[in-house]
Amino acid sequence: MLIPHSRPVFDDSFTQAATQTIQSGQLAQGESTTKLEQRISQSLGVQHTLAIDSGTSALMLAIRALTNSKPLARVGIPAYACASLLFAVKNAGATPVFLDCTNDLTLNAEQAFNTAKTLDILVLVHPFGMVEPLVKETFACPVIEDIAQSVGATLDGQQVGTFADVCIGSFYATKPWGGAYGGFISSRDLSLIEKCKAKTNPDAADLNATYVGHHQLSNIHAALAFERINQADDERKHRQAWAAKYDALFAQTSATPITSYTGSKSNSFRYIVRCDRDVTNIIKQLNHMGISAARPVQTPLHQGVTACPATDEAWQHCLSIPLLADMSQTEFEYLQQGIQTCFPS
Ligand SMILES: Cc1ncc(COP(=O)(O)O)c(C=O)c1O
Repeated sequence: MLIPHSRPVFDDSFTQAATQTIQSGQLAQGESTTKLEQRISQSLGVQHTLAIDSGTSALMLAIRALTNSKPLARVGIPAYACASLLFAVKNAGATPVFLDCTNDLTLNAEQAFNTAKTLDILVLVHPFGMVEPLVKETFACPVIEDIAQSVGATLDGQQVGTFADVCIGSFYATKPWGGAYGGFISSRDLSLIEKCKAKTNPDAADLNATYVGHHQLSNIHAALAFERINQADDERKHRQAWAAKYDALFAQTSATPITSYTGSKSNSFRYIVRCDRDVTNIIKQLNHMGISAARPVQTPLHQGVTACPATDEAWQHCLSIPLLADMSQTEFEYLQQGIQTCFPS
């Protein structure tokens, strides 16, 4: 049996949406893109949304807009996060400043507050479906909230993506709002969204602009993302039901589930446990059984440049277990066997 780490389901509604878009003859940016932007604004309750070709570009454009493309602007990002963040900062011509995490994989608050005084922008990522509680706080610099993995999660009843100056997300296939590729920027600040928009279409750009790229989201990608958003709530509920079973399973092992910060509700995008030993051999053992467990983060972003001891520790000991919305009971039982083999009680 093979249990993948992610398994987005594309049912007939996706086929219909793609077929209709092709038949319309308008595959590039158009009506579906606008419809998706409206849907996101409505869903988040944030007035303005711009659909973008990827989450990475969305972050890069938001950084450029907030810093007015200031060269070498200092942008704080978590060290325990996906590589896209690092490249978004670099592609904005900015300098990454790495922030360490805590045991629950959210940011070290004291370090974040102190470092923010020296930053041009702080990127607060809601990690792995959980909530970064620091979004409630006020910082010395503008904040970008990244909900690529955690859209649908809430903190004290308020949706993530609605706390900071600007929010970005992703429509990459395996994400909670995944279609194929794509991303978005949302904000209450129309002028900020307009600044970002001015950098997305070279054909309509001011030729003196420092940076412009083809970053519009196509109709076909928008139509697929729209379908996923329609299904996201149901999928989240299925993942949450499986996550509750995983909790019971891991209660009998030496591994500790990393749960969302108190007062918040995770979207259960990922199921991450902290193991009592290095995860390299556990991953090998599970992969050998066909269970695609993985490190939550492929490589920590600080690469030893800055001291981030908790990030190094998390990289060694944290494990992401496949959590699939459409998992079958047979698959769950097989997964259970795998977990019991790796963590005998
Ligand atoms: C937290 C986070 N932010 C941003 C991105 C970038 O999104 P995209 O893959 O659409 O470029 C990712 C993608 O892996 C991510 O995990």
